[in-house]
Amino acid sequence: MRVVSGIQPTGDLHLGNLLGAILRWVKMQDETECLFFLADMHALTIEGEPAQLRRNVREMAAALIASGIDPEKSTVFAHSHVPEHAELQWILSCTARMGWLNRMTQFKAKSGKNKEAASVGLFTYPVLQAADVLLYNATHVPVGDDQKQHIELARDIAMKFNNDFNVELFTAPEPYIGGGTAARVMSLRDGTEKMSKSAESDMTRINLTDDDDTIATKIKKARTDPEPLPGNAEGLEGRAEARNLVGIMAALTDRDIDEVLGDFEGQGFGAFKPALADALIARLSPLRSRLLELREDTAQLDSILDSGAQKARELAAPTLAEAKKAVGLSR
Ligand code: TYM
Repeated sequence: MRVVSGIQPTGDLHLGNLLGAILRWVKMQDETECLFFLADMHALTIEGEPAQLRRNVREMAAALIASGIDPEKSTVFAHSHVPEHAELQWILSCTARMGWLNRMTQFKAKSGKNKEAASVGLFTYPVLQAADVLLYNATHVPVGDDQKQHIELARDIAMKFNNDFNVELFTAPEPYIGGGTAARVMSLRDGTEKMSKSAESDMTRINLTDDDDTIATKIKKARTDPEPLPGNAEGLEGRAEARNLVGIMAALTDRDIDEVLGDFEGQGFGAFKPALADALIARLSPLRSRLLELREDTAQLDSILDSGAQKARELAAPTLAEAKKAVGLSR
């Protein structure tokens, strides 16, 4: 079993990233070999400032470590520091089919109305994502629900490559998705939209850098409905915002939704929201303090990323060499 996953170093780490991915990575690093990387080349698909990207790479590394990723246990690196990713991507882009990429819902959502103006990188990025995991023969890829389709594409690419070149080189990776709300944490202002870094309003998400007062205000202002809380999860059907908040509480405190509702049945959000804000602050405030401290130590962060990249290259090089051999790119 080998676990590989990544995150784009754009903006702050938010509660969706934490519950959907990072806190599950933290658990897995005690169980098996793990590689976690900052997908900085993916970040190029979104227009941004080069200097900001450079800063974001370190800051996201600090955020992962502050959240509990231990560079002694897990290999932590930036994928642009491992050139094998981009090289394998080219080979795999000759295996992937246009039709497969055309079906990717994230491209449809991110490219907006004018597809002609979207970058080629935005369109082919799922192939880079496939290279990210296939290079290491990842067996499990812990991600939120929004990445499931990309990991399934990586499986299809792995199987077609093995079949086309009659090799058993790539392992088809399994998307490993958490249960309940953690798989898809929704916006605090609209229960039908996922919580994301790209949403314009900061009130839609809780960031790892938010201070206690900001967290309390965001929860206080989160959209809800006037109904009291039901006794079990079925009673939350059709109440997207209510379900999301109760789900966040459940994921944060490692309980299921019914258990959380057991404590609040018949009560309104006036009672529930302060309890949720308290639980969030208790969980996030130590992470934030660690993050603010770590962010300053750029030398240590660079050294973690350098040795992570070195370890990753050692693992990636033989796979890339085999892939080149399979397609005829070696003597
Ligand atoms: P990214 O940077 O958008 O998100 C990082 C991780 O956080 C999860 N996530 C969520 N989970 C639950 N609820 C949410 N609202 C929420 N928002 C984000 C994502 O599912 C993801 O697990 N393309 C990837 C990065 C990537 C990658 C990879 C992942 C590049 N190569 C290879 C896995 C394997 C991305 O943009 O994630």
